[in-house]
Amino acid sequence: MATIIPVASFDCVVFGATGDLTTRKLLPALYYRFKDGQIPGTSRIIGASRSEMSVEAFRERARDALKRFVPARDLDEEKLAAFLDHLDYVAVDGAGDDGWDDLAARLAERPDQVRPYYLATSPDLYGSICRNLASHGLIGEKSRVVLEKPIGKDLKSARAINDAVGEVFPEEQIFRIDHYLGKETVQNLLALRFANTIFERLWTADVIDHVQITVGETVGVEGRAGYYDTSGALRDMVQNHLLQLLCLMAMESPLTLDANSVRDEKLKVLRALKPITPNDVQAVTVRGQYSAGAVDGRPVEGYRADLGGETASRTETFVALKLEVQSWRWAGVPFYIRTGKRLPQKLSEIVVQFRASPFSIFPAESFGREPNRLVIRLQPEEGIKLEVMTKDPGPGGMRLRPTNLDISFEETFKQRYPDAYERLLMDVVRGNATLFMRRDEVEVAWAWADSLLKAWADRPEPPRPYPAGSWGPTAAIALIERDGRTWHEEMH
Ligand code: BG6
Repeated sequence: MATIIPVASFDCVVFGATGDLTTRKLLPALYYRFKDGQIPGTSRIIGASRSEMSVEAFRERARDALKRFVPARDLDEEKLAAFLDHLDYVAVDGAGDDGWDDLAARLAERPDQVRPYYLATSPDLYGSICRNLASHGLIGEKSRVVLEKPIGKDLKSARAINDAVGEVFPEEQIFRIDHYLGKETVQNLLALRFANTIFERLWTADVIDHVQITVGETVGVEGRAGYYDTSGALRDMVQNHLLQLLCLMAMESPLTLDANSVRDEKLKVLRALKPITPNDVQAVTVRGQYSAGAVDGRPVEGYRADLGGETASRTETFVALKLEVQSWRWAGVPFYIRTGKRLPQKLSEIVVQFRASPFSIFPAESFGREPNRLVIRLQPEEGIKLEVMTKDPGPGGMRLRPTNLDISFEETFKQRYPDAYERLLMDVVRGNATLFMRRDEVEVAWAWADSLLKAWADRPEPPRPYPAGSWGPTAAIALIERDGRTWHEEMH
């Protein structure tokens, strides 16, 4: 069991306290940190939303949420009751004037607390919430604001949000969440690359053939069709999560682990991403939309039926791209990335495929010239696997086969893997922004995404249909196979 170091005492105000994110992610994350003794007893979690509600009613809601989203084996009744005692509630209108004096009074009771303001609301409210915080004198040195995605839907709207928040909070106090950065194995990528000499020396175009990043989900759009249909997979997943993974894979060693050193290096990768122009779009991008099919053995509807029968939607639920990072280290190494809803597996992994050996001394019938692959599995079953060629045991001649050097984190460390939000929330309290996105990163990523969105918008054809439960349109397979390569699942 890792040592738990308590954070400073805090008052965390969660705007959007009755919403989905608070219920599914934030309350469970805070509960676990409390249960493990990381949250000091003088801390408060203050729910804020427009609904009039008593503190007791909010605690009851929170109890229900925890019963739903925390496994029963982790729900200790005594700890649960103690955690709920730390919850408070104030009705506040993020867009208007109501409730702000009450919130100010509540916070004035403990003026020395660290004060994270978590904006788990629609981004339309970020500006007005921040202005209200400022005009009610609620921003001090120990305040921080946490912004959930989406931070805009293009560069222009992202800038407007960043400007509005930046008017009242200095950049060091703004924490833009990308929850993928809080995933344990994503940070392990930093450890793997920069705490070991063997990999970093091989991390170049001379040795690496290509990189694949896959983030597959089995879910459809669930209850979020309204948001999703205005977003699509490129905005929802690629502009943030997949590009962040690509940055950690491709960046140079930061000078230190401090926030700006790491973010400076990620920014250089984003700047080096080759923009996708209308001329390239056909060759290096595939958009898909799921149709009816089966996932986990049960039939599911298509995307348009999930939208309630809307037949004209051209929103993509799947994207595959071939990307180039224009730098000395990566020249000529393609990064194939893909993500989608209603795929056969919930699976996030990064595959680094090394170049094949230049020449085989083994007889042709020995079967073996598979290239080495390093597979970094983010979820499920977090782990790292290196595929190497070995000799088939026994006296049957010199036959080769791929075998895995395999580290399963669960088996190795035998402990629960904390959810990304647990780490990120504690990092906010500590004031450590290494795992959060800086303004310039978000904006450069949007500038890149905007050019692709524009190129797609100018094309007449809709996204290609793919049956739910498949790995996307066949064009996504062709995208990589045209280059004589193949997506990794074919190898399982
Ligand atoms: C969110 C997206 O940011 O990430 C969702 O908005 C997606 O559409 C989710 O389902 C995936 O996160 P995870 O942690 O389940 O891989």
